[in-house]
Amino acid sequence: MNQRREVQAISAGLQQLLQWDLEDQAPGYFRRPQTPAGPQSELLPSQQERPDLDALRQELGDCQRCKLCNQGRSNIVFGQGNPNARLLFAGEGPGYHEDQQGLPFVGKAGALLERMIAAMGLQRNDVYICNVVKCRPPKNRDPEADEVLACRPFLRAQVRSVQPEVIVTLGRFATQALLETTAPIGRLRGQFRDYLDIPLMPTFHPAYLLRNPNEKRSAWEDLKQ
Ligand code: URA
Repeated sequence: MNQRREVQAISAGLQQLLQWDLEDQAPGYFRRPQTPAGPQSELLPSQQERPDLDALRQELGDCQRCKLCNQGRSNIVFGQGNPNARLLFAGEGPGYHEDQQGLPFVGKAGALLERMIAAMGLQRNDVYICNVVKCRPPKNRDPEADEVLACRPFLRAQVRSVQPEVIVTLGRFATQALLETTAPIGRLRGQFRDYLDIPLMPTFHPAYLLRNPNEKRSAWEDLKQ
């Protein structure tokens, strides 16, 4: 190859790489990603069509992919539950108790979530529970965009792994993050949407319901669907 052709080839490769990166960062990023070409065995668990949850957790490792790793995190809260659950709950991010125990929804909000699950005739072990971000944001602030982006491949891969029949997003933040919208939860809740081709039902966060018990009836209407 002469020098000019070589430069052209390098530039084409770079453009492809950039395009990949831009597509990955652009709005629309919650859509099902294209699986890169190549045998499945060469792909990281997070890139596989139906990854194994344990392998995915191993890939996450002692994650340093965003600043939440050194802002008081005690434990990564990956997710918990039935790896073949028909129902997947997605919250926002771990709080104090979750961070301490390394498990999602184990505080007061978790107790209410368990009652909601029981009201559906299910047990906590029947469903899969995870969060948009896997590490506790300091002072329970909303996760920031870079933190959501860093965790995004893992959330997507969890959903692809479990392949639930329905996803329930708990609260404004999780709903807006998965659906990529800024619409208020009051407008989004109660209507089926779509996430990675799976029906998604937004409802109120159990912590909100603890503060506003008169909204429990609406949340129950959402879950009955
Ligand atoms: N709130 C969340 O959004 N997730 C948890 O795991 C706990 C509380």
